[in-house]
Amino acid sequence: PETGSLSIIVLGASGDLAKKKTFPALFNLYRQGFLPPDEVHIFGYARTKISDDDLRNRIRGYLVNDASPLEDVSKFLQLIKYVSGSYDAAEGFQLLDKEIEKHEISKSSREGSSRRLFYLALPPSVYPSVCRMIRKYCMSKSDLGGWTRIVVEKPFGKDLDSAEQLSSQIGELFDEPQIYRIDHYLGKELVQNLLVLRFANRFFLPLWNRDNIDNVQIVFREDFGTEGRGGYFDEYGIIRDIIQNHLLQVLCLVAMEKPVSLKPEHIRDEKVKVLQSVLPIKDEEVVLGQYEGYRDDPTVPDHSNTPTFATVILRIHNERWEGVPFILKAGKALNSRKAEIRVQFKDVPGDIFKCQKQGRNEFVIRLQPSEAMYMKLTVKQPGLEMSTVQSELDLSYRQRYQGVTIPEAYERLILDTIRGDQQHFVRRDELKAAWEIFTPLLHRIDNGEMKPIPYQTGSRGPAEADELSAKAGYVQTHGYIWIPPTL
Ligand code: BG6
Repeated sequence: PETGSLSIIVLGASGDLAKKKTFPALFNLYRQGFLPPDEVHIFGYARTKISDDDLRNRIRGYLVNDASPLEDVSKFLQLIKYVSGSYDAAEGFQLLDKEIEKHEISKSSREGSSRRLFYLALPPSVYPSVCRMIRKYCMSKSDLGGWTRIVVEKPFGKDLDSAEQLSSQIGELFDEPQIYRIDHYLGKELVQNLLVLRFANRFFLPLWNRDNIDNVQIVFREDFGTEGRGGYFDEYGIIRDIIQNHLLQVLCLVAMEKPVSLKPEHIRDEKVKVLQSVLPIKDEEVVLGQYEGYRDDPTVPDHSNTPTFATVILRIHNERWEGVPFILKAGKALNSRKAEIRVQFKDVPGDIFKCQKQGRNEFVIRLQPSEAMYMKLTVKQPGLEMSTVQSELDLSYRQRYQGVTIPEAYERLILDTIRGDQQHFVRRDELKAAWEIFTPLLHRIDNGEMKPIPYQTGSRGPAEADELSAKAGYVQTHGYIWIPPTL
């Protein structure tokens, strides 16, 4: 591993993302020894004029929990220094550079490398100016060795054109290997497991195709609304917020061909190919919804046409998937919170048990909560009668891996940025292909040509969405429900 000074600079340090995700992730890495205090220093940068201690106090509450002793929290907070400045003026960034340099000199005695990681916890509107400032004033000093990397968060634009514009503005300043586009779903344990599952197991190799699989669902449900984020959300909507990035990334890993090797570029090459094989979305394969009460949020316009729910069917035009619908579904303010991948297999040909069966074989990967994989299958009902029942082979993580803490997505991804591994980050051409799929549909919604159907808070979403899934071939299992085992 590399040594020498490592500076992690969180821009937008007093914002929501930084407080709720970035700093807690850094803290967890610190506690596990991944951020050695003799090398690492953390800088918060934002416009507000506050002191180091003010920032520390703002963050503290998000770090303290049962597992983290107060002493660790205090030691970690001491690693943080605050610098205030604007996002488009030289002054602040020159000051920031000076502070970083001071730290580098003290930590490495000018012997080690100068590693600088800039985490942009900021709205994308300031990305170009911030990147320009970093490029001009804050780059790793070459005589020390090391690197400069930039971490950015979605939304990467609003449609194909704006995303491409943003990409080229940043691309003029930094090379692709320096840019880390985070999609935090790629840091989730069971999303990371997809590659292993699909390509390290003989079971799946012959089954994973149109001959055996009838349909695939990738579902995201939340049981709360846009609470406090109405202003942001209304501008983007559920497709840009969840489907175009998180669910589409999952789709790539479910559908892609085997990469040549585990090298990040080989994996990302395969993801791009799948995205490029997606056919244009048909209007009749889309259902939009908006929960009742969404417009009561004072930051949401009274006549908002923004969907808070969507089911969209994607069709992949290649040898493996022709004819298999990929049903992407996401919604806020629904009756439950979960994210899962549900692979439903075709009926058994010439099935002699057909009349008594409850449902089809399914392979379900529960991303959250209660991480698990289970295979639904028909077995003989134990007992004297010769009857069948739906059961499951269940790999529930809480039970199988007792005492193992599953890392937070952000924690893992930030560690990757320090190690220089881009496998779980979105490459520029991938992003472009993702926007190409959804831009025509998004424009029609933005123009008011497609309207969301109202649905009740706490419901399953519009009934039309279930009808669409059924029409696409999904068969619901009746009289069976998987319950995550408790310990
Ligand atoms: C974010 C979205 O990217 O993901 C939020 O902007 C959403 O709207 C969140 O709530 C969900 O993430 P997770 O990890 O809680 O499933």
